[in-house]
Amino acid sequence: MDTTTPRRLALVTGASSGIGHELAKQFASHDFDLVIAAEDEDLTAVAAELQGLGAGVKAVQVDLATEEGVEHLYRSLEGRTPDAAALNAGIGAGGAFASDTDLRQELRLVDLNVRSTVHLAKYLVRDMAARGEGRLLFTSSIASTMPGAFQAVYNASKAFVQSFALALRNELRDTGVTVTALMPGPTETEFFERAGMLDTQVGAGDKDSAEDVARDGFDALMAGKERVVSHSLSTKLQGRGSRLIPDKVKAELHRKMAEPGSRPRD
Ligand SMILES: NC(=O)c1ccc[n+]([C@@H]2O[C@H](COP(=O)([O-])OP(=O)(O)OC[C@H]3O[C@@H](n4cnc5c(N)ncnc54)[C@H](OP(=O)(O)O)[C@@H]3O)[C@@H](O)[C@H]2O)c1
Repeated sequence: MDTTTPRRLALVTGASSGIGHELAKQFASHDFDLVIAAEDEDLTAVAAELQGLGAGVKAVQVDLATEEGVEHLYRSLEGRTPDAAALNAGIGAGGAFASDTDLRQELRLVDLNVRSTVHLAKYLVRDMAARGEGRLLFTSSIASTMPGAFQAVYNASKAFVQSFALALRNELRDTGVTVTALMPGPTETEFFERAGMLDTQVGAGDKDSAEDVARDGFDALMAGKERVVSHSLSTKLQGRGSRLIPDKVKAELHRKMAEPGSRPRD
């Protein structure tokens, strides 16, 4: 008789870099096998690294900003319901909405950050609830708590993710499925470069490490917590403060850190 316990399975989107890469490493080091997904990057090296940590890994290269991409990723699970999933893939878009930002990029941001999150969650929540267990982590952001002047569509997308995650958590409370919102502050990843925000105060400023943020997210997920604001003291204070500060003040503070050219001169 085979007495070995099957290894648990985790799905991580946006696992090629940054927070998703570190989340995948957390799962691998805690005895999970993995299905990892990203768009452009060759995932071979990341898969080999995770295998080196003892995980069985299936890498899926897929554009999650498309419906076909999400369907393809779900089919890649081959009928297996993950024990845990991190819906993490996301992009930003910095700049003035009226004059700078590109509509196509913003619509793609909505497709990835919002639409694909709902689409994938629909399948995962349904399957996890039917099985009576599961852990879902949504990478939201501290940005979800403030109107994002000069990053307007991004912050709105994260406000959606945050509200969506907390609503699902409540709906699922009697099902054995937990939902956790990971709310990072500025984190050292490829995010700000991709969002065209290196000339901003926030893009050029101090950041948390993706490793610390992912560890906070993984620990909160495993503990079944509602949310975790991560990682530095200043980010945690920002999280606390956001509950008290009026929205128009938060929008003004956001303008100061995200306006193009706000990067301090050396
Ligand atoms: N960095 C921060 O300061 C910060 C703060 C709060 C929240 N967040 C959130 O954290 C999450 C991860 O971002 P990050 O900071 O780790 O940035 P990152 O290093 O740029 O990682 C983004 C990941 O998403 C993947 N991705 C992008 N577009 C995709 C698409 N169309 N289909 C599939 N995968 C796609 C990327 O894959 P490819 O490399 O293959 O494109 C990459 O693996 C995002 O949801 C972001 O909003 C970041």
